Amino acid sequence: MKVLSVASEVYPLIKTGGLADVAGALPAALGAHGVDMRVLLPGYKQVLAKLKKPSAVLEFADLFGSSATVLASKIDGVQFLVLDSPDLYDRDGGPYTGATGADHPDNWRRFAALSRAAAIIAEDGLGGWIPDIVHAHDWQAGLVPVYMKQGKAAATPTVMTIHNIAFQGQFGPDIFPQLELPQSVFSVDGLEYYGDVSFLKGGLQMATAITTVSPTYAQEIRTPAFGMGLDGLINARADALHGIVNGIDSQVWDPAIDPLVPFHYSHSKLKKRQSNREALAERFGLAGTDGPVFTVVSRLTWQKGIDVLTELVDDIVAMGAKLVVLGSGDQALEAALEAATARHPGHVGVVIGYDEPLSHLMQAGGDVILVPSRFEPCGLTQLYGLRYGNVPVVARTGGLADTIIDANEAASAARVATGFQFSPVTPDALREALRRAVRAFADPKVWARLQNQGMKADVSWDRSALRYADLYAELLANKE
Ligand code: ADP
Ligand code: GLC
Repeated sequence: MKVLSVASEVYPLIKTGGLADVAGALPAALGAHGVDMRVLLPGYKQVLAKLKKPSAVLEFADLFGSSATVLASKIDGVQFLVLDSPDLYDRDGGPYTGATGADHPDNWRRFAALSRAAAIIAEDGLGGWIPDIVHAHDWQAGLVPVYMKQGKAAATPTVMTIHNIAFQGQFGPDIFPQLELPQSVFSVDGLEYYGDVSFLKGGLQMATAITTVSPTYAQEIRTPAFGMGLDGLINARADALHGIVNGIDSQVWDPAIDPLVPFHYSHSKLKKRQSNREALAERFGLAGTDGPVFTVVSRLTWQKGIDVLTELVDDIVAMGAKLVVLGSGDQALEAALEAATARHPGHVGVVIGYDEPLSHLMQAGGDVILVPSRFEPCGLTQLYGLRYGNVPVVARTGGLADTIIDANEAASAARVATGFQFSPVTPDALREALRRAVRAFADPKVWARLQNQGMKADVSWDRSALRYADLYAELLANKE
């Protein structure tokens, strides 16, 4: 079966968050189930620089006024298809924002072009490779099902995956005429959303199937509190909705072989982990490693509950624990964390920025990974924490609720607990969860058991890849 996957970021070529990890891991995970997946993404500067022996496989003379080329390049066994269009993607900054951090004003065009290119590949194929299914990720690929419905590939099944329904790709109605779509698409059954254009809504209306990245989030987005205005549509399409939890790429995230981890270890060789704790303490200038080291690797935003955490910094230090944070995002949160570091030198450390190697050291050397999110479609850092013996303390929401087993009495007695959950996302509830973690850490036997149970938990792609493969097969079988 041939599947074209379309995403705006894909590890290891470009990454700002979990979408990249997932889009990057799926081809190998699905390859094991007989799926030939190729991944289309934009040719940002950073991406072009990493391509190996790219070959031009398709030319567009006019993609919304720009010329473009699809470059094929195989990296670590994955077939990447890169949409190279200097007008659209050769810019400073990240995939979505310029050097100053503001969104590119023509993002609608940049991602409409990506979607249009995918639809054209679905119609005509690439050198005889015609996808049986097209799988679009998030709003940046939301127009893929919309464009496909207009042409020769209208019958090809599409899957639209929601990685975060908070980001919808909403633009003013003035852009609609430039999308080169029939006027009828600008309607309540199409991509029109309260008078605006919504890329994600268009995708959700037109896709054959909708998936999101955990079963709990699939239920949550049917409610007004989590649906971000699209809960009505999600409910109307409930029959087409599937919650499939993310896995982790166990080639990239394995403490026994990870080149970014200074001292390799496994669940049966946990003692060796201590050297990573020391390396981490040194990196953040911590005064010793007596109490537990709490770690955060996150976008610093309201979604992630970082404001709640910053309120507890003094309590954390009073508990005898340490806190190290790697992240970037809201300036007020960055400033609050920097102020906390200044208040508690040797006990709190912050690195503002994006640092892939440091994120691995934090998982290998930390004791607790904190994920106090207000909502979390899946979350990957708690999965990496499980794999690395960095015990998760998480809010009971979305994928966090699905992937961590709280160390309550019953789960502890049954030896299945893997971390700590709390709810609601308030300073009081988080403080109580942190206290529970500190108490457990004080008993080395209890702690080693928690780490062990987490490290043995199956967080691989095996089961979830099979669910995607089954879904594709079902969609093909039902194809008109
Ligand atoms: P989201 O995609 O909502 O940001 P996830 O938990 O799904 O959350 O994925 C976040 C990914 O980005 C993880 O791979 C995490 O390790 C990584 N990450 C987040 N912030 C940073 C950072 N500042 N430096 C390095 N990696 C980061
Ligand atoms: C989004 C979500 C996150 C999820 C990731 C990958 O960024 O915020 O919860 O893990 O996508 O699916």
